[in-house]
Amino acid sequence: MVNPRGAVRSLKEYHPPLGNREGLRLDFNENTVGCSPRVLEKLRQITADQLARYPDRDPAEKLVAEHFGIEPSEILLTNGTDEAIHLICETYLEPGDEAIVVVPTFSMYEIYAGATGAKVVTIQAGEDFSFPTEVVLARTNQRTRLIAVANPNNPTGTLVSQLELIRIAQAAPHAAFLVDEAYFEFCGESLVPQWRDVPNMFVSRTFSKVYGLAGLRIGVLMGNAAQMQWVRRVSSPYNLNEAAIQCLGEALADQNYIRTYVDETTAGRTQLEEELKSAGVRYWPSRANFVLMHFGEKNADFIKLMRERGILVRDRSSDPGCAGCVRITVGMKDQNEFLFVALREVLEQLGGRAKAAQ
Ligand SMILES: Cc1ncc(COP(=O)(O)O)c(C=O)c1O
Repeated sequence: MVNPRGAVRSLKEYHPPLGNREGLRLDFNENTVGCSPRVLEKLRQITADQLARYPDRDPAEKLVAEHFGIEPSEILLTNGTDEAIHLICETYLEPGDEAIVVVPTFSMYEIYAGATGAKVVTIQAGEDFSFPTEVVLARTNQRTRLIAVANPNNPTGTLVSQLELIRIAQAAPHAAFLVDEAYFEFCGESLVPQWRDVPNMFVSRTFSKVYGLAGLRIGVLMGNAAQMQWVRRVSSPYNLNEAAIQCLGEALADQNYIRTYVDETTAGRTQLEEELKSAGVRYWPSRANFVLMHFGEKNADFIKLMRERGILVRDRSSDPGCAGCVRITVGMKDQNEFLFVALREVLEQLGGRAKAAQ
């Protein structure tokens, strides 16, 4: 038996519940109807010769850079945002450094930062999951080498103002400041290309959410060209598979598909919030494609009863500050209608006890 490094031994296990997902998928914030048909058509055309070659990422990077209106030197395509986070941690962190993560948030910041041997400083979000800017500033010191923020945040759906983020990044010029904009399309606020003024800032995006391509694993890391050179050194030149590279053009070209999906899901988000409000269920207003809500002791029953109706939702009760909470992804109009009917029935079945549990 070979002993893993101490930093690895102390990592928390993270096993998202990806098995047995038959039903309406409102549990992982994915696109609930899948990608543009143009992407599928492109996939069908892939040839054996294309698959036989090692993938060349450069043309895809030029394409995505053009889409964002930035230079290819400011961008790195990654194997999902997960790899972008991993690369940032590998590039900037070493044992003895500190990484600041405001919780509850996406788990991978803590895991990849912790795996380097750096100390992960977790800071609990404030009242109603507001971003604790002053606490983050107070906890930042010379050892802070990474600050990672999901904006909008998962699982809370909250958004931090750009001014606050810029203020923190500027206060910690010796730290890589990663703003993960995985849910950007549902809120429309972005820090691209803020790194031109604030060179320690990185921004990531993903094709896993609104684009419906979580299975292909395509992430985008953007930042100051000089910084990106270092990140690129850590990255495998073959990190992106050929199928993903082939599809990118069609995925980006079909912006009508993206707009329609965003319009329906954001309308659905408002409706879901109204449903919850009129049912007296506590929830946190969201800027993403999901809503976090609180059922207290009835959480497990709620999740089970929804599953019995064919709807998968995500238990977030073990996230810091989220005891008794569930996160529900919003989908397209007819899916949301199906959700609202089930929600009313389940709340009825729980007999107002969900309300009482708050
Ligand atoms: C904030 C955030 N970042 C990143 C990811 C993962 O993205 P990807 O599939 O591109 O690795 C998720 C997925 O849930 C997320 O919520």
